[in-house]
Amino acid sequence: MSEKKHITPDQLRSARWFEPDDLRSFGHRSRMMQLGYSDAEYRGRPIIGILNTWSELNSCHSHFPERVRDVKRGVLQAGGFPVEMPALSVDESFNKPTSMLYRNMLAMETEEQIRAHPLDGVVLMGGCDKTTPGLVMGAITAGIPMIFLPAGPMLRGHYAGKILGSGSDAWKYWDERRAGNITDEEWLGVQGGIARSAGTCMTMGTASTMTAIADAMGLTLPGASSIPASDSGHQRMGADCGRRIVDMVWEDLKPSDIVTPASVTNAAKVAMATGCSTNAVVHLIAMARRAGVDLTLDDLDALGRTTPLIANVRPSGKDYLMEDFYYAGGLRALMKQMEAMLDTSCITVTGQTLGDGIKDAQVYNDDVIRPLDNPVYAEGSLALLRGNLCPDGAVIKPAACDPKYYEHEGPALVFDSYPEMKAAIDDENLDVTPDTVLVLRNAGPQGGPGMPEWGMLPIPKALIKQGHRDMLRISDARMSGTSYGACVLHVAPESFIGGPLALLKTGDIVKLDLPNRSLNILVSDDEIAARKAAWVAPEPRYERGYGYMFSRHVTQADKGCDFDYLERDFGAPAGEPDI
Ligand code: FES
Ligand code: MG
Repeated sequence: MSEKKHITPDQLRSARWFEPDDLRSFGHRSRMMQLGYSDAEYRGRPIIGILNTWSELNSCHSHFPERVRDVKRGVLQAGGFPVEMPALSVDESFNKPTSMLYRNMLAMETEEQIRAHPLDGVVLMGGCDKTTPGLVMGAITAGIPMIFLPAGPMLRGHYAGKILGSGSDAWKYWDERRAGNITDEEWLGVQGGIARSAGTCMTMGTASTMTAIADAMGLTLPGASSIPASDSGHQRMGADCGRRIVDMVWEDLKPSDIVTPASVTNAAKVAMATGCSTNAVVHLIAMARRAGVDLTLDDLDALGRTTPLIANVRPSGKDYLMEDFYYAGGLRALMKQMEAMLDTSCITVTGQTLGDGIKDAQVYNDDVIRPLDNPVYAEGSLALLRGNLCPDGAVIKPAACDPKYYEHEGPALVFDSYPEMKAAIDDENLDVTPDTVLVLRNAGPQGGPGMPEWGMLPIPKALIKQGHRDMLRISDARMSGTSYGACVLHVAPESFIGGPLALLKTGDIVKLDLPNRSLNILVSDDEIAARKAAWVAPEPRYERGYGYMFSRHVTQADKGCDFDYLERDFGAPAGEPDI
């Protein structure tokens, strides 16, 4: 037990359930006996909830049943009492229409599971894209001591002597298949080799971005986010999490001590330095707002302009994957490399500072984790745009697109839905040139619904056959963190609620000026106003169920797509339940 102990056993939150000599507590104790636990096992000890986002349809978390055992071992060793509890397994691969529709459901479940049960601390087990922000958002609001256990990346992909990266190589080989350049046999080989162990996508996609953000924010053990899922170090990290959360309870070290404006800024800088997924914008804003930190797109743009991208990990980097990043020293080494840019006085789940956590970190391969003066890309990975097409902002990842599109003017080719786009894109007579700007609308938070990862619109087959592999694309959708290309995303307000994207017509000239961070249509204000007056709102997506609630309460991308009523300042805190 830590020397920093602040609270006593009678001050444990769970004591309210178990200690009073009344009928309710009698009921709770008798039910613990029904579960097979005697008093000595749990009374007066921190009860640690292990929120496990495992399911048999979540390929990234398939090692969680074993990892729970490691966490429990650690909790017991430190004198706590572990209880595993299920949390919604938001999986990226199978969840339709998009996992993003369910991030907030996981956040609500996490918050309510914690609030409603006799828990003193929690270990959050997640990693596949939306599970990290979902768990963290809920746990920040619930407010009890918590530690995040990242699932860890899977091993590098392999096929026919080639290294394969999650997502990125799937898109790449798919384009080659559409161009007729690879055989069915090769395509099957890629299918079998691209995901070959437990763990999250091993490019710097949304999963590795978000676990790095949790790590840099101080919510994981230092460097935990880089350990591959199948490395025995991951098991040891699981047991360490179990031991540490028990001490955190005695120390009363809460998320509110850890998630501060300074730690959020650290996390944003580290994200930029890793070449983060564009999804980081939405999730980081949502997580920060849960902690009362009003992070804006302009803040992120400013940090993006001053933070070099130093992790040479695909898709922003050229050569390496998360497994290489770990061998090169992992996130601790990256943070050490940029130490001068970070506020190292921030407290982490260790109870010590970020600076303490990275003190002896070293870079073992400076081609993978570059020095600040030899970056992969001089500015950070994301840029935020504004203009008459996106008054509330849009996002682009310059590091992952062909620089010839940084300043571009071309005619729009507009699609109203994903199926409409899909039906047209392989038509070899489609009226497109490399200057055309492909536009997809009705793909935002309400329109998608759930803002699906459709933003990397496929290059039309006619252009693929001419050898083109990039073009300017615009949507109110998101794109996978493993995607690449000149894709403007997260246009806000979205078209489904009448944002300017809804008023665009095929043939209108669109102008992107990345150095000046602007995105405009060259259409007069009067013409835009006339189109706006004539605009008719689409039919609602949902008339019942979760989707009905989602459509009424989801905020726009620039605010993080949380539900308005879950935001910190919506109303008085829910407080502790009556028992
Ligand atoms: Fe789970 Fe990519 S599908 S992290
Ligand atoms: Mg993803």
